[in-house]
Amino acid sequence: MRKRSRYKLLMYFAGAGLITFAVMLVFNSKIRPSIPKKTPTPKELYDVISPSTYRFILNQPELCGKSPFLILMIPATLKDTEARTAIRRTWGQNGLISHLTILHLFVIGQPAQSDPVLQEHLEKESMEYGDIIQMDFVDSYQNLTIKTMMIMNWIATYCQGAQYAMKIDADIFLNVRYLVDYLHGQGESSRKDYITGSVIADAAPHRDSFNKWYISEDLYPDKWYPPYLSGAAYVFSTDLARKILQASRFVRPIPLEDVYVGLCLHVLGVKPVYATRFLRLRNLFEVRRLKYERCTFAKHIIVNGFNPQNLLRIWHDFQKSYSTC
Ligand SMILES: *[C@@H]1O[C@H](CO)[C@@H](O)[C@H](O)[C@H]1NC(C)=O
Repeated sequence: MRKRSRYKLLMYFAGAGLITFAVMLVFNSKIRPSIPKKTPTPKELYDVISPSTYRFILNQPELCGKSPFLILMIPATLKDTEARTAIRRTWGQNGLISHLTILHLFVIGQPAQSDPVLQEHLEKESMEYGDIIQMDFVDSYQNLTIKTMMIMNWIATYCQGAQYAMKIDADIFLNVRYLVDYLHGQGESSRKDYITGSVIADAAPHRDSFNKWYISEDLYPDKWYPPYLSGAAYVFSTDLARKILQASRFVRPIPLEDVYVGLCLHVLGVKPVYATRFLRLRNLFEVRRLKYERCTFAKHIIVNGFNPQNLLRIWHDFQKSYSTC
């Protein structure tokens, strides 16, 4: 009799344990976000970089309609008219790769001093080309983190159907064909949680207040940055746009936009992939400036430091690389 009741008691506890465990599982999967537990940034800090703080002045909500292969997101300012024209005539032109849809979009804020004449030109340009989005925050170097979050938000809202997105600065040479071949070569692993470019590992914050990339210990106390991608250009699977945006809720804003994306990736547990060839001897995202040489450029995805005139000057010659290099 005693033995039997002890057995019953044991079964009772085991059952209760099992139920508690099951309830915890269900509960946990419901409340736990897809990112590791962290404390959200105080609202007043997060609001500065949150895209919901700002309004669209120009938008292109229908642009991505046909699920493009790739969307190029190009940060620019109001006055970069010449750069926009050069990009539309070179690597941003429509139909460059015949069987794939590749779109481009210029991402713009507002100048600190409003400029009604330039703004009117921009609106005309936007009507003509349909490749401009603009939000009402002040365009400045420190505000590039806001712009990057605006890019992530736009992709997550209007372009989830694209396979890849690329953030690329306006002063860059882009070898679109090589990029497409490279992405095709990455296979399944590049469809989700994938981001590639020139990876900067083991970087430490600059604590000297005269440095361009200075960051105070108050703003970023850690001794190291997690691996991040050079902000000149990086490519990612579009699912990451939404995830980076979610993660940013938990990462205190800093004015270094490339490091900031790296911090969000760290929260997500996503490791950036270094785009190299031949045991890292050739960095495909060349962040240094290289002297133009057709067949050298043919072996890179980007080369840094191109003004509009130089871009237009080399483009015609570069187009021959496909058949000659
Ligand atoms: C960043 O943008 C915000 C919102 O427009 C503005 O208030 C702030 O002055 C800007 N910061 C800089 C350094 O330009």
